[in-house]
Amino acid sequence: MKLQSVKDIKDLKDKRVLVRADFDVPTKSKVKSLKSKVVEVEDDYRIRAAVPTIKYLLDKEAIVILIAHLGRPKGRKDKDLSLQPVAEHLQKLLRRKVIFLPYGDFSKHENQVTKKGRVKIFVLENLRFWKGEESNSKSFAKELSSLADYYVNDAFAVCHRKHVSVSAINQYLPGYAGLSLEQEIGHLSQIMKKPRRPLLGVMGGVKISTKLPVMENLLKKVDLLVVGGALANNFIKACGWEIGRSVIEKKYIEEARELMSNKKSGEKVIIPVDVKVGTSLESRKAIWRSVDEVKKNEYILDIGPRTRRLYTQLVRHAGSVIWNGPLGLFENKHFKAGTQAIVRACAKARGVDIIIGGGDTLSAVGRQRLSRKRNVFLSAGGGAMLAFLAGDELPGLEPLIKKQ
Ligand code: 3PG
Repeated sequence: MKLQSVKDIKDLKDKRVLVRADFDVPTKSKVKSLKSKVVEVEDDYRIRAAVPTIKYLLDKEAIVILIAHLGRPKGRKDKDLSLQPVAEHLQKLLRRKVIFLPYGDFSKHENQVTKKGRVKIFVLENLRFWKGEESNSKSFAKELSSLADYYVNDAFAVCHRKHVSVSAINQYLPGYAGLSLEQEIGHLSQIMKKPRRPLLGVMGGVKISTKLPVMENLLKKVDLLVVGGALANNFIKACGWEIGRSVIEKKYIEEARELMSNKKSGEKVIIPVDVKVGTSLESRKAIWRSVDEVKKNEYILDIGPRTRRLYTQLVRHAGSVIWNGPLGLFENKHFKAGTQAIVRACAKARGVDIIIGGGDTLSAVGRQRLSRKRNVFLSAGGGAMLAFLAGDELPGLEPLIKKQ
């Protein structure tokens, strides 16, 4: 899939460019006095991801107007979800003046961004404070487009959302992909189209309802697909074994069974041979069980050591790996060994192309260890990556695809 790139825009000098970034970052509040508190960015990796595109545009003497969301305010103003702290953080990162455009009148904003001056970077308030954003409203798209000459999407993580800043805006401004979005699509397309073989899929996480379509599509491409996390419970149950009180989506047991018994793809699916269980989600003791020995009052919370060994060997011997979702309840330190083992295996794997996605959680586990590995790509997409891997059309990508 080739996208129209920001680099295809011929003349950017003094042009206003609306850049959709993903600034949905964790923040923390600091109490300054009894009456006041400040909100600060806790982890800025998503803000940093937008910097190459911002710098590229500034080099070309364009005016950059960043638009993004934070959290899910659902069309209401919420002080705690303001993007002002992000604008301040960006100013520090870039060491350049950044002007924050508050919630309110777009004609004022238009005057401000059009005014000739030294300030070239603006951050608009949280898009989701405006009702029209999530309903993909044409009138909101029109208002937003009045701020700019071009639109650049640099936020893969929201490309599956049919929102104004991702979708409808393309009807009002010529649209292009930013550098970080291009990189995402480059890596994902490569692994789906021409992967180094064998291609190993690693699927974890919780929701089988969202992961099943992904697995079905992945099974057409991968050589093997190993399963972990709560997702695996459906498969374990489908084999007729006890899963105790473990998380499961009962509706999907039959579908899991069908997937495993499918003549073409069934033998590619590998499920845990052993697990770690607890007596509650907060358990402080991880008990080893063979997969067919789980008791009625237990919760499966991680893959077991034999499974770990098997899965990590497969990572090491793969040509490419695509991994989405943790393999256990890693937030509880007693059940993070499975996920950590795969992170370690990815960090050590030489000559293996690896893509890891699944939202903040998974990348947070491995980011420090993996971000400098040249063969590992940490995708910013959670839901968007899943939609891409399931073969869905993404509202944020379709308008940007280069016509041959
Ligand atoms: C994310 O945090 O994964 C993205 O920013 C998408 O956010 P959303 O799920 O609230 O649309």
